Amino acid sequence: MALIRLKSRREEFEWQAKQPDQHMMAGRSVELTAAVNLAIKEAISVSLGSRLLDLGCGDGSLLELLAPQIAQGLGVVPTVIQVNRLRETHGQLANVSFAVGAADHVDALEGTFDVIVCNSVFHYLSNADEAFAALLEMRRLLAPGGLAFVGEVASQKEIRQSHSPVTYVAFLVRNGRMRDAAYIVRQVVLAAAGCRDYVWLSPFEDLCLTQDEMTTLARHAGFTDVLISPTPRYSTRFDYQLR
Ligand SMILES: C[S@@+](CC[C@H](N)C(=O)[O-])C[C@H]1O[C@@H](n2cnc3c(N)ncnc32)[C@H](O)[C@@H]1O
Repeated sequence: MALIRLKSRREEFEWQAKQPDQHMMAGRSVELTAAVNLAIKEAISVSLGSRLLDLGCGDGSLLELLAPQIAQGLGVVPTVIQVNRLRETHGQLANVSFAVGAADHVDALEGTFDVIVCNSVFHYLSNADEAFAALLEMRRLLAPGGLAFVGEVASQKEIRQSHSPVTYVAFLVRNGRMRDAAYIVRQVVLAAAGCRDYVWLSPFEDLCLTQDEMTTLARHAGFTDVLISPTPRYSTRFDYQLR
């Protein structure tokens, strides 16, 4: 079996967590995720006392990178299978833990975190109501003076592999995302050659929020300071620093 069509987001996350390469859990190559992590590290500032929440933590590599520089880190993902895999791969990090949760529900007291990162997650949410609920949850969890970094928020319709890998690659090329396009092409070629059991065919479209929509939602959720910057390697996504 080389090409798989997944039926739900949940199935997509669980399938990723079962792959031999743990970095699949971030949905991109390890090199790209490492570059993303460095960009996030530069954008946020952590200190030895920081309590960090990585909401939708993928392969857990951001927490691994920042663990020596923070007091505590929590990674949250939607399924038990993901949490188990993360515990397996990052069990040696004494100040980092993992839990099942969702962008709009994390089992923690209000004001628990100094920094919250929620990167490349918002496009998975169903609609603007769920995005608003996620922003409210982040506001609740953030300690006074804390920072929420909501990264890679899609602001232009993104065509997913669901339609066809060809249209998706064309979309990526049109938007200057050559490395992402090369990554997808590589996955398809490997799958077609039978070397890898992979092409992620998700039947869902991404949620895309304009900068105005995101800003309005963030302000209604209680964030008074909204700083927007283009996501470094994307022409179609933006990062938000919310205080
Ligand atoms: C593309 S990966 C990004 C991972 C990581 N944040 C990064 O930037 O490398 C998306 C992550 O969000 C998680 N996710 C998707 N929907 C979510 C939701 N509603 N609540 C919390 N996490 C979610 C996925 O399980 C996955 O770990």
